[in-house]
Amino acid sequence: MTLPMIEIAGRRTPRLGQGTWNMGERGADREAEARALRRGLDLGLTLVDTAEMYAQGGSEEVVGAAIAGRRDEVVLVSKVLPSNASRQGTVAACERSLKRLATDHLDLYLLHWTGSHPLEETLAGFAALQAAGKIRHWGVSNFDADDMAELLALEGGAACATNQVLYNLTRRWPEARLAPLCRRRSIPLMAYSPIEQGRMLRDAGLKKIAAGLGATVAQVALAWLLRQPGVIPIPKAARPVHVEENRRALELELPDETLSALNRLFPAPKGNPSIEML
Ligand SMILES: NC(=O)c1ccc[n+]([C@@H]2O[C@H](COP(=O)([O-])OP(=O)(O)OC[C@H]3O[C@@H](n4cnc5c(N)ncnc54)[C@H](OP(=O)(O)O)[C@@H]3O)[C@@H](O)[C@H]2O)c1
Repeated sequence: MTLPMIEIAGRRTPRLGQGTWNMGERGADREAEARALRRGLDLGLTLVDTAEMYAQGGSEEVVGAAIAGRRDEVVLVSKVLPSNASRQGTVAACERSLKRLATDHLDLYLLHWTGSHPLEETLAGFAALQAAGKIRHWGVSNFDADDMAELLALEGGAACATNQVLYNLTRRWPEARLAPLCRRRSIPLMAYSPIEQGRMLRDAGLKKIAAGLGATVAQVALAWLLRQPGVIPIPKAARPVHVEENRRALELELPDETLSALNRLFPAPKGNPSIEML
């Protein structure tokens, strides 16, 4: 099956990526985590998301090991902590990340969430990194619609390549204002915690729907996100069996009656809900 693709950071990439939060926490697990990521790459899941925050850089080291020898296949995403996001701090944090990732560039570098450094400073840091060839594109994370409007009004702000937010069937807040805004501006949304860190797997209603389709709850959760235009779910899976299961979500069609049942179980947001983050 040809994978459904999307353009992000100037690259065509499959609609489903790989997350890495909690990877690198335990030395003994690192090899298995890198193996799971490589299995994902073998299956075409070439967008890999990490951050300097995860395991204090340990996740980036695992990703570095996983992509060694196959860097060109990967759309590599990392994030700067808001506390580091001054102009100089952004550059220095990126250089540390590149070292841990054993690469000379990131495809996409995100501000992890809004902080106390003015956005203009962070953008100046991103611009310096781009000029030096250390990042190809930049974006943000955990920005709501008002944050995005503020960013887009800044000089150079419209070059933002993505906004990575908490979005899944149980967290539909982006649908009210953020997702329509990003669609209008052709900015893809990366959906983090797409299976709510595993908590959705215990939902009785979802279990019933998944069983009726001969699928798993994780696959239904991912297939639903994959139907949302411009959305790239990034599940984290340290077990190859989970990676393989998630990859098959790209082939799962959700019939109209399933979509109606999901809407009844997890209604779309009303009004102007606040941002949700983990
Ligand atoms: N920007 C931000 O602020 C932010 C915040 C949170 C997350 N993120 C990013 O988004 C990624 C994904 O979010 P997340 O890690 O919070 O949560 P998630 O992807 O919703 O859930 C991860 C958990 O689900 C399990 N899992 C994955 N696939 C499964 C399957 N098919 N069947 C059963 N269990 C499955 C994993 O187990 P195993 O690992 O044992 O396979 C892991 O325990 C993160 O890793 C990170 O890269 C970004």
